[in-house]
Amino acid sequence: PIPLLIDTDPGVDDALALLMALDDPKHEVVGITVAAGNVGLAHTVRNALKLTEVAGREDVPVFAGCPVPLLHAADDASYVHGSDGFGDTGYVPAARAASDEHAALAIVRLAHEHAGRLLLVTLGPLTNLALALRLDPDLPRRVARLVVMGGAVNGRGNTSVPAEFNLGFDPEAAHIVFEAFPQFDLADWEATLAHGIAHADADRWLAADDPRARFYDAISRQTRAWSRARRGEDWHSADALAMAYALEPESAREVVARPLAMELTGALTRGATVVDWQSRSGRPANARILMAYDRARFEARLRAAVGAS
Ligand code: BDR
Ligand code: CA
Repeated sequence: PIPLLIDTDPGVDDALALLMALDDPKHEVVGITVAAGNVGLAHTVRNALKLTEVAGREDVPVFAGCPVPLLHAADDASYVHGSDGFGDTGYVPAARAASDEHAALAIVRLAHEHAGRLLLVTLGPLTNLALALRLDPDLPRRVARLVVMGGAVNGRGNTSVPAEFNLGFDPEAAHIVFEAFPQFDLADWEATLAHGIAHADADRWLAADDPRARFYDAISRQTRAWSRARRGEDWHSADALAMAYALEPESAREVVARPLAMELTGALTRGATVVDWQSRSGRPANARILMAYDRARFEARLRAAVGAS
């Protein structure tokens, strides 16, 4: 199997992506590194540990990373994910604790151990990965493929007008990552919106007789109701789409390669992804941007992640 390292900030949609990955026979999750983002680090780490328990994968190590962005404080997304990041259900925490090693050090070490083969998927702010790159500037040479959930490639963000949450939370970290990796795959917020799932289908899958469905139904209830009230009949799972793209790239139906850079200073645009759609800059096309993914394959993977038929 392909070694897979996931950096995440769980987070309701992170949880679905993790279930998808932990169940995939072609990939072996070699670690889960955790940052602050959707909620504070104590909660995101606790949620990652719980998720591995629900998935029956307590053999997978979890590493705690950065509690704050590199430079500037940022607001969390507890209004979407609940104050504990998992819908405030009061679940019983997992028995085990995170490993002692810092997430950034674990990224550096695992990239060495799996050099040339590692699939690295980021589902949260890029703080841990940026720090790892400062510790080990050669890291990109060892990573076979980087998949990032983040950005809003046409300027339709979900936090500020043009910024998406993960990259807007820590724009400097995203800048460091995008300058360091000559090429990466991007599943952005606008792709998320283009791949909505009918709430009625999700409700049916989450009624499956499986511990994963029961847990996911409980932790996602609040955010599904919030999304229904706000965005209508379609439900969106940003991190799950990114993970489907990571695990099964052959099911992507349209991918466009363009130069992409972070806006760090704009009074109205800080945290935005600036995509050179017209290739005017002469910069290399570093981002392979997911535009369309096979809907039936995405749905099949969502169902499998929660044990629904
Ligand atoms: C991203 O932000 C977070 O709230 C989600 O978990 C996802 O990673 C979507 O913008
Ligand atoms: Ca996330």
